[in-house]
Amino acid sequence: MKALITAGGHGTRLRPITHTQNKHLIPIANKLMLQYALEYSAEAGIQDVGVIINAGDTSIERAFGSGESLGLRITYIPQSAPKGLAHVVKIAESFIGDEPFIFYLGDNILVGGVQRFVDEFQSQKTNCHLVLSKVPDPNRFGVAELDGNRIISIEEKPSKPKSDFAVTGIYLYDSSIFKAVNSIQPSTRGELEISDAHQYLLEKGFSVSFSEITGWWKDTGKPEDLLEANRLVLDSLKNSVQPADFPTTTVSGRVSIGKQCAIENSIIRGPAIIGESVTIKNAYIGPYTSIGNQCEIQNSEIEYSVLMEGGCIRDLNQRVSGSLFGQNVLVKRRQGKPNNLRFMLGDQSHIELI
Ligand code: G1P
Repeated sequence: MKALITAGGHGTRLRPITHTQNKHLIPIANKLMLQYALEYSAEAGIQDVGVIINAGDTSIERAFGSGESLGLRITYIPQSAPKGLAHVVKIAESFIGDEPFIFYLGDNILVGGVQRFVDEFQSQKTNCHLVLSKVPDPNRFGVAELDGNRIISIEEKPSKPKSDFAVTGIYLYDSSIFKAVNSIQPSTRGELEISDAHQYLLEKGFSVSFSEITGWWKDTGKPEDLLEANRLVLDSLKNSVQPADFPTTTVSGRVSIGKQCAIENSIIRGPAIIGESVTIKNAYIGPYTSIGNQCEIQNSEIEYSVLMEGGCIRDLNQRVSGSLFGQNVLVKRRQGKPNNLRFMLGDQSHIELI
């Protein structure tokens, strides 16, 4: 069994964060988004992983290298242009060969890994196994029409969805998928759609089984949605802090704190994760907050937020909530006169003041 994982695209819906980094390298609960897919593959006993990247993007390879530290052998496969997910499968044919494989969209986060789906695919011996999840907005996804235990059709982003079951970005295939991706035509938006490949398999009588999951996340358009992914992952965080670790600070709930942190006179309420070499003084860190390495929070309160590496929040007199800060962002109260607000913001930044 091999794995094929996507890490390309332009992440336009996650700007401004994606102006400076590939969205698959955005941290979710202090772990790079793509690392979840890679670790899930390794846990499922897979060693050979093909990672699809935008041609010329070296950032993914710089982050994960050969994959050895995760117990994987990663082959980077460049895609010259965004021609659709079925095109991704097509260009990976020589990497996959005759083996069955899991196709995993690297921007999907799910609770509990993929072992269960690999087992179900292997025991059902079908040509294709899809992972479905009930969603409130199926028109944003590939949608499966079901008849009892059978999928009878798949449509990509239908205006009138035939069910609430989204096809998530986790697919298991044998080599019959190559017949499908080599037979379908581009859609009206000019892409080879993975849903059309699935529909082809159904129409040609190949067997398509499915599993249903809860606890799945996929960015659906707004940067705030990343906070939901962060919440989903932090919900299963384990506590690693002992009450005596930080004598002047009250830590409650499930909290993980990295090495060499200076934490004083503060309140930390989990689930929350704090990276290495972080300074927290006279601060409140509330539930569902992730704080990256080398951050500083002083005389301020923050909850339900993500502060990426090197971020600094100082002397704010209102609580920060529902916020996402890119790397090395500084937010502080201005000292002295004149008493005005002052900004230096990159393109497509968002600010909400009260
Ligand atoms: C893609 C697929 C869609 C699937 C979704 C899951 O959509 O085309 O069928 O439901 O991934 O993540 P996209 O993310 O390209 O809009």
